[in-house]
Amino acid sequence: PVSRSSVVSMKSSSIRIGLLGCGNVGAALVQLLTEQHESVKRRTGLDLSIEAIAVKDLDKDRSIPLPDEVFTTDSASIVNNPEIDLIIEVMGNIEPARELILQALNLGKSVVTANKELLAAHGAELYSAAENSGVDLLFEAAVAGGIPIVRPLRESLAGEPITQIRGIINGTTNFILSRMSQDGVSFNEALKEAQELGFAELDSTYDVEGYDAGAKVAIIATLAFGVEVTSQDVQHEGISKITVEDIKFANRLGYCIKLLAAAEQKVNENGNSEVGARVYPALVPLSHPLAAVNGSFNAVFVEGDAVGELMFYGPGAGGRPTASAVFGDVIDAAGNLQRSHGALIGALDKPNMISPENLESPFYLNLKVEDQPGVLAQVAEVFGNHGVSIQSMEQEGMGSEARLIFITHSSREKDLFSTINSLNSLSVVSSVDSVLRVIGD
Ligand code: NDP
Ligand code: HSE
Repeated sequence: PVSRSSVVSMKSSSIRIGLLGCGNVGAALVQLLTEQHESVKRRTGLDLSIEAIAVKDLDKDRSIPLPDEVFTTDSASIVNNPEIDLIIEVMGNIEPARELILQALNLGKSVVTANKELLAAHGAELYSAAENSGVDLLFEAAVAGGIPIVRPLRESLAGEPITQIRGIINGTTNFILSRMSQDGVSFNEALKEAQELGFAELDSTYDVEGYDAGAKVAIIATLAFGVEVTSQDVQHEGISKITVEDIKFANRLGYCIKLLAAAEQKVNENGNSEVGARVYPALVPLSHPLAAVNGSFNAVFVEGDAVGELMFYGPGAGGRPTASAVFGDVIDAAGNLQRSHGALIGALDKPNMISPENLESPFYLNLKVEDQPGVLAQVAEVFGNHGVSIQSMEQEGMGSEARLIFITHSSREKDLFSTINSLNSLSVVSSVDSVLRVIGD
């Protein structure tokens, strides 16, 4: 890659960096920092150098252009080293990352992290430690990999009354669903590829069951609505139950299946503001822009009262795109250290969370029923009894049984789940195999 041309020439200021973790993201960051060192120095005056790197295994081959002496297994020694000005945490997990970051902030060092799991669980504690010390805690890479979304929410959209955010914010699951639907690859094979490409978390359940997207949407909701939303406030469902059959039926009906994350803020009937945040697999019309987001790419739609709808799109996972986001934060934080001030987040209140049963959406249902006269009428009556209106229905014969595929009009979750309970107790219904939300055009 070609480095950006010099636009500024200034006196250089040396910033010594301690790096915690040198895996997919950390190693790519060292490469990027080395490649861009001179260009950044010319443009910003910052002479960035990595002084020490903490890892678990000193014997691993890292293929990075730094001597063995910079590596240690003692992360705390890096944080406590008075010669180090700025800490980058890309080790993952909650502990010891939380303790190390807190210690760094308390010592007056700025911190850059990509750790969404940590921020979604302990963000408020860390943001206030950064504020108390007057230093930066920056985390662009924690949401949607290489896509700038955190800074736009924190800065560019700071005055915008944001109503809704929706998108694809996990690269691994989007990669798996794309490979399954476009190339007929099995779930397990696609997951293995995502792991080899450095998209997946160490424990891939975190991606596949929606925890990763849940953590990211908690961070986004906190930034967008200015209240403390944690991963525990997010309802999440993953993609492990999606079958190749569901994907085929969805395609036949003009949809694809995507793992979506959504956060919204609205005023309830009592005039109080409520926040909702959730992650769920959904049928997306093939004509919708999200249907074109494939592989490890992510896309985030932000809807604001004044600005209307914005879309952010790009690589959502992988070492180098993520390192790019970390690098931007490092330059920002290093610049602020030089000028002796930080970019802060204020105190956060807890929000009222929207009751999940009142959330509304159209649904896709996939039922196995007996193939006899009158069955369809019985099934349709159950939907009607619970106030769930049917938008479309398809039937496929399977010998003595038939497969019924319904798409409903927008319905409350509580009505839909009562419908499913009643369907399950009908003798002509063998099973309700899949229930997925559908998003509108
Ligand atoms: P890796 O597992 O590839 O790397 C983790 C690194 O941290 C390794 O170098 C490991 O050492 C080191 N490490 C782990 N625990 C310790 C410890 N207790 N003490 C010292 N070193 C430790 O993870 P990634 O690079 O993929 O991810 C890093 C962070 O970035 C995570 O928080 C992840 O969620 C986040 N992230 C990742 C993205 C991606 O696409 N991969 C995208 C966006 C965010 P060793 O090498 O010796 O095992
Ligand atoms: N495992 C994450 C994903 C990495 O697949 O999106 C990027 O945060």
